[in-house]
Amino acid sequence: MLASLVFFLNACSKDDNETVETLETPVANAPKDVNDHGFKAKWNYVSYSKSYLLDVSTDENFTSILPNYNAKTVTDLNEVVVGLTGGTQYYYRVRAKNETQISDYSNVISVVTTGSSGIPEDPTFLKVKVNKLANPFFVGMAIKASQLINGSPYDVILKNEFSSISAEYEMKMDQISTASGVYNWTVADKIVAYGNANNINVHGHALVWHNAVPQWLKDFSGTNAEFAAEVKKYITDVVTHYAGKVKSWDVVNEAVDDSGAMRNTIFLQRMGPNYVKDCFQWARNAAIAAGDASLLLFYNDYATSTNTAKQDKVFSLLDDLKAAKVVDGVGFQMHNTYLSPTKAQIEADLNKAVAKGLKIHVSELDIQVNQFNDISTFTNERRLAQKAKYKEMVQLYNALPAANKYALTIWGMRDNESWIPFSTELNHPGNDWPLLYDSNFAVKSSHTGFLEGLD
Ligand code: G3I
Repeated sequence: MLASLVFFLNACSKDDNETVETLETPVANAPKDVNDHGFKAKWNYVSYSKSYLLDVSTDENFTSILPNYNAKTVTDLNEVVVGLTGGTQYYYRVRAKNETQISDYSNVISVVTTGSSGIPEDPTFLKVKVNKLANPFFVGMAIKASQLINGSPYDVILKNEFSSISAEYEMKMDQISTASGVYNWTVADKIVAYGNANNINVHGHALVWHNAVPQWLKDFSGTNAEFAAEVKKYITDVVTHYAGKVKSWDVVNEAVDDSGAMRNTIFLQRMGPNYVKDCFQWARNAAIAAGDASLLLFYNDYATSTNTAKQDKVFSLLDDLKAAKVVDGVGFQMHNTYLSPTKAQIEADLNKAVAKGLKIHVSELDIQVNQFNDISTFTNERRLAQKAKYKEMVQLYNALPAANKYALTIWGMRDNESWIPFSTELNHPGNDWPLLYDSNFAVKSSHTGFLEGLD
C-alpha cells in the first residue's frame, strides 16, 4: 500500500517537471552576408523556445550594446543587422526565451564589417603624446641612412613622431669593420649625426651578433686569444668613437638559442662561455675611458615571452652580468604576431626584468598579421586585431615603473619595407603588414592603437 503511494507521488512529480523544461543555452554561429553596413547574425534552434533575444555590441564585454540591438526580440534563427559602420568590429550573442524563462547567453561571435570606417586615424604625433606622460619613454624607429634626407617623408615623420633611432643594420660589425683595426664609419656617422643634430636619441645596435660577423673575422686564422683581442679592439674602438653621441648599445645580441643553451656561435667557440660578460666589460671600460660614464649597455634577444627555457637562460645570463655590474638593461625584440605572445606572457616576461631592476627596451617591435599566409590583402579583421595588439603592448610598456622604462622601438617605418614580408629567415612565404605606416606613409590603425595604449 505504502509502495504504491510512493510510486504514485513519484509519477506526479515527474509530470510536473516535464511541463517546466529548462531552456538550453543557444549556440551562435558565424555571420553570413557581411557587408559595409551590416551582416546576418545566426544561431541554432533551442527546444521549447518561442523567441530569441539578440545583443549586438562594439565591445566583446557588451558594455556598449547598440540601442536597436539591445535584447532585440527575434522569432527566427537569424536576423539581418543593419545600420552599422564600415570596417568596424562588432560582437553578437543571443539568449533563448519562452513565456516564462530566458536562457543563459550564447557564445559571442566576432564580426568586422567590410569597407572603410571613414573615421580618420588619430593624427596625434606619438612622441608628443608620450612626452606628456608623467613617466615618458623614448619612442624609437629602426632606420637606414639613405632615409635621412632633409625633407624626405622619413625625415618629417622621424622629427615629428620619434625620439630615438636604431640602425636597422648599418651599425653592425659586418658594416663597420672592413679589416682588423680598419673601420668604415661613413654610414654609421651619418646616422649618429642625424640623431644628435635633431635631438633624437641614438641607440647603438649591435656590437656583437653572430649574424653580422665580417668575413675577415670569420676567416681569422690566429689563436683564440688573438680572436678575443680582435673583438675587444672592435668594441673598444666603436664605443670610443661614439662616446657621448650614442646613448645606449646592444652589446651582445641573441647569445641564447631556442633550446635555452648558449648559441653555438663563432664567439662561443673562440672565446668560451664568458665571452658575453667580457664584451660588456670591454664596452664599459671603453666608455669610462672616453669619459662617458652614463652609456647604457643592453643585452638583446627574441622570443623570450613564449619560450620559457630561453627566457630562463637569458635571465640567468643577465644575473651574471648584473653581478659583474656591467649591464643596465634588456632588449626584448618583440617580433610578434596578432595572436602571440599573449598579454599574460608579455607581462610575465617584462615583470622578470622589473624584478631584477633592469631598464627595458622593447627594441624591435613589429606585429605580423599573415604568419600563416592565409590572407592576400590586409583585411579589416586583421587591421583591428593588429591595432588591439599594438595597444596592448604599449599599455603594458607604459604601465612599467618609471625606473624600468627606457624605449619602445618599432622595427621599420613602412609595411612594404619591413623585413617580414616574404622573409626566408622567418619562413614567411607571403606578404604582411606589420608596422605603423602603409606604403604611402599614411598612419594605420596600428598607429592609433599605439596612441590609445597611452590613455
Ligand atoms: O651588406 C650589404 C651592404 O654592404 C649593402 O650596402 C646593402 C645594400 O642593400 O646590402 C647589405 O646587406 C644587408 C644585410 O642586412 C647586411 O647584413 C641587407 O641589405 C639588409 O636588408 C640586411 O638585413 C637586416 C638584417 O637584420 C641583417 O643585418 C635587416 O634589414 C634587419 O631588419 C635585420 O634585423 C635583425 C636585428 O638586427 C636583430 N633581430 C632580428 C632582426 C631581423 O633579422
